[in-house]
Amino acid sequence: MSEPIVLGIESTCDETAAAVVHGRTLISSVVASSMEEHARYGGVIPEIASRAHAEAFVPVVSKALADANVDFTDIDAVAVSSGPGLSGCLAVGVSGAKALAWAANKPIYGINHVIGHIAVTQLQFGSFPKDTLALIVSGGHTSLLHIGDVARHIDVVGTTLDDAAGECFDKVARLLGFPYPGGPHIDKHARQGDPHSIKVPQGLTKGKAGKEHPYDFSFSGVKTAVARWVESCQAVGRDIPVDDVCASLADSVAGVLVDKAMHGCEEYGSKTLVVGGGFTANSQLRDKLLESGKQHGVEVRIPDFKLCTDNGAMVAMLGVNLVEAGIRPSAPDFPIDSAMP
Ligand code: KG4
Ligand code: ZN
Repeated sequence: MSEPIVLGIESTCDETAAAVVHGRTLISSVVASSMEEHARYGGVIPEIASRAHAEAFVPVVSKALADANVDFTDIDAVAVSSGPGLSGCLAVGVSGAKALAWAANKPIYGINHVIGHIAVTQLQFGSFPKDTLALIVSGGHTSLLHIGDVARHIDVVGTTLDDAAGECFDKVARLLGFPYPGGPHIDKHARQGDPHSIKVPQGLTKGKAGKEHPYDFSFSGVKTAVARWVESCQAVGRDIPVDDVCASLADSVAGVLVDKAMHGCEEYGSKTLVVGGGFTANSQLRDKLLESGKQHGVEVRIPDFKLCTDNGAMVAMLGVNLVEAGIRPSAPDFPIDSAMP
């Protein structure tokens, strides 16, 4: 079979996105975001995001197909994120994708969005070497995964027990008065601050004794510790050293992520770590990962930012993997699963 051409559709949160991938080549990619509409509420409002998806779906998919200059008849399959994500948002993308696939009599694959964040790295770095580990860090997910076969078998090495890293940054950012999403503001201020000026606990360095896996993550305690510290300053009318707070937070969170990823690589014999999710834009995390990768002899694959944030290419790329592996398409009535594991 020649290399598959797949249309990928993404609508898990506040991005409506579509892309066409041919084999390992990205042919077109269109992303519309409702982020600005959520900014004044301090977080994504599901109803607003769902309505925005309904409006953007047809224009975004049409543009992705037009930019790719392919006829719909040439598409081998449609892939769509069917979870995890916001139910109303997923329902819009999945319904639209089902309608397209049904009308054109094409196979459809409901895919796991988080696995898409891993799959997309193939567009820039090629296929996965044996025993690759993946670190996915975004507003909604913090996961360390072992890739057996991206189409068939992925093991969870560690996952977030409460707040994801991006969520933790966004919540502290709100406290410091930054608009949503606050992660990039923390990053900017952290670059000017002293990371050792404030004692921020390291989020769950060992795992919960006897119960959870040592590679699980927990950042809610980190968030609370920073919040208490800021409140204690406010209580005595002391100016908050914003740069130092941001630097100490970023150092703690990035440190835990990198330590666990590198220990995981050691334990699993991985010489390659692929990285994805919007939080990978974070400069402290990028620097630490690349430096630590060098020390440990691990090739760290961080794709361009536009591939790290939510997009259609990640969905289409995983769709290509599923077609290539001969995986049976999803049934016409496949459900959305907002809490997909
Ligand atoms: O993957 P993504 O675009 O959306 C999902 O959550 O799925 O990730 C967005 C998250 C937000 O929490 C945002 O604050 C965070 O990534 N983020 C950053 C930076 N850029 C985006 N966090 C820290 N530093 C950054 N430079
Ligand atoms: Zn995502």
